[in-house]
Amino acid sequence: MKAIDIRNKYLKFFEKHGHSVIPSAPVIPENDPSVLFTTAGMHPLVPYLLGEKHPAGTRLTDYQKCIRTVDIDEVGDNRHLTYFEMLGNWSLGDYFKEESITMSYEFLTKELNIPAEKLSVTCFAGDEDAPRDEVSSECWKRAGIPEERIYFFGKDDNWWIAGEEGPCGPDTEMFYDTGKPKCSEECNPSCSCGKYVEIWNNVFMEYCKTKDGKYTKLQQKNVDTGLGLERMAMLLQGKETPFEIELFEPVMQKLEEWQNQDLIQSRRIVAEHLRSSMMIINDGGRPSNVDRGYILRRLLRRMTRHLNKLEINLAKLPEMIDVSIEALQEMYPELVKNRQLIQSVIIEEKDKFMKTLEKGEKEFEKIVAKLKKENMTKIDAKTIFNLYETYGFPPEMTGELATEAGLEVDSQGFDALFREHQEKSRLGSEAKFKGGLGSTGETEIQYHTATHLLNAALKVILGEHVHQKGSNITAERMRFDFAHPAKMTEEEKQKVEDLVNEWITAGLEVTVQEMPKEEALKTGAECMFIEKYPEIVTVYSIGDVSKELCGGPHVKNTKELGYFKIKKEEASSSGVRRIKAILQ
Ligand code: ALA
Repeated sequence: MKAIDIRNKYLKFFEKHGHSVIPSAPVIPENDPSVLFTTAGMHPLVPYLLGEKHPAGTRLTDYQKCIRTVDIDEVGDNRHLTYFEMLGNWSLGDYFKEESITMSYEFLTKELNIPAEKLSVTCFAGDEDAPRDEVSSECWKRAGIPEERIYFFGKDDNWWIAGEEGPCGPDTEMFYDTGKPKCSEECNPSCSCGKYVEIWNNVFMEYCKTKDGKYTKLQQKNVDTGLGLERMAMLLQGKETPFEIELFEPVMQKLEEWQNQDLIQSRRIVAEHLRSSMMIINDGGRPSNVDRGYILRRLLRRMTRHLNKLEINLAKLPEMIDVSIEALQEMYPELVKNRQLIQSVIIEEKDKFMKTLEKGEKEFEKIVAKLKKENMTKIDAKTIFNLYETYGFPPEMTGELATEAGLEVDSQGFDALFREHQEKSRLGSEAKFKGGLGSTGETEIQYHTATHLLNAALKVILGEHVHQKGSNITAERMRFDFAHPAKMTEEEKQKVEDLVNEWITAGLEVTVQEMPKEEALKTGAECMFIEKYPEIVTVYSIGDVSKELCGGPHVKNTKELGYFKIKKEEASSSGVRRIKAILQ
């Protein structure tokens, strides 16, 4: 079964069971500067798992484009993917364990026709925070899984949380038995030998982990599930790795045709990083030296480096991108629309990287000259690391060039430094993820409402052509991007500030209404990306000065906002201005 067919079957199945199909959020979370990428289907749904009402109801299903970057350096083995698609279904205080498990079992055995005897499941074994999940185990037995294929494990295996705090709970995981022999007597689904492959995770989210590590009960019991699409396609197609399914296979084949060195790992890295990069670019990411941009840069540079290793002419890049888009277009038609953009971003980055490599080589030659002068024969770890960090010069290249120059390298020392560096960046991205989930504090909510007022005020003072192009909120300030062709004058800025403050002092009520998208648009409600909203939307109104499609949350009354002050007005990009403002 092709991946697209699995996706369609999944959405249809859950739709039949009363779920609303909601659109995938972008891989770059909207209005959330503190999270690098969307890493799971639940991520855009956190406010609703915490109790906010979702406009599409209490049963949702979607496919979610996800990026997980913790292990970029492991991509190239036979299973890691940086980009993957997660199929998910949610109960927001609606059904719980019994119905969730029954539906999963039915989908796997009846829709995907997986023989029941190939399935094993795991449940939470219980500890001081939550009881042993006998309920799930009983549900599995009733569904048709015999006791000997139901396993119990602790938090390490059967507890799910995104980051360090937030909604969480015990989970039950489904495993597919590949039929390989057991690696030992004790071999079971928690073993990583490859006999058992995890295919689906149903999280029973009834807890919330607080900052101080305590578990409290959520106000509602939710179900959050995630099924890895590429992995499922791989199993159903009887393949050993995801790189053999139809989404990767055409690119893999081309690479094999073009290569002058036969390196399977490099082919996988190229195919994977190409797809991930295209998805990030497609959702608005651009290479840079920080955060998301840096991840994209790393993916593209690693891809280019492995093309070089395969000795594939980089002039093939445009064709390679086309082949990949063709393989993916049924699943992501948006890639076809953005083909030009994707091409130019990737090629420009490749050119930059080639220049970097040139500079790095020059730097390397200086190092060699210096060492030779000092009669030294070994390049120390710090120098290799510096070449890597400052010049983006790949360490294995340093190794190769060193051998050519008759020098040794301290690779062990470098590995240690590198691991330390990786650990730091891993902690960094985990902290970011954590921050994102915790970031709807009171101040952020105030800033969120203030962006609506600012948007409305800009329209009054500058004209109806003003439209929001983006926003970014932290607990310290707000940033608001909008379409407007010219720099604002001092007078205009003052007028906007005064008008927002006038509305704040007026104590306007903030109200929310649900309505069909079409109707909302007819009322003239503002919105940024109409295609990204579900059929039924929430519209937030502030007195009669502002009306916007928005997921919330917002303050109840504008008088909660304090004093609004514009700190800066500047160009953001062509035709787009950026305002930084604070609430005092
Ligand atoms: N959120 C759960 C996961 O990512 C379903 O596995």
